[in-house]
Amino acid sequence: MLVGPGMAGLGSRAGERTSASAADYLHESILNPNAHVVEGYPAGVMPQNYADSLTEDQINDLVAYMLSL
Ligand code: HEM
Repeated sequence: MLVGPGMAGLGSRAGERTSASAADYLHESILNPNAHVVEGYPAGVMPQNYADSLTEDQINDLVAYMLSL
């Protein structure tokens, strides 16, 4: 069972989720996960504290990785 949305194709899908760029959408979705909740999934499941537990470099690395998917 998948807890969250699959990541396959996320890099190309991310830019279509909102009017923001794919990178900005992914960045926001890590730091502020309830800003945009993917249809079909509940809000509040994503950890809400990545802004505190990850450095900006780590977040940017995650965004770069997800853009490559
Ligand atoms: C470093 C770890 C994580 C990253 C980088 C991450 C990133 C993301 C991103 C980018 C989305 C939006 C996906 C899309 O638009 O298709 C998302 C959604 C989601 N994630 Fe995570 N996630 C992480 C950890 C987790 C964990 C640990 C859980 C649950 C145990 C989780 C549960 C969810 C759920 C349920 C959604 C869909 C609802 C929503 O949009 O908030 N994530 N995640």
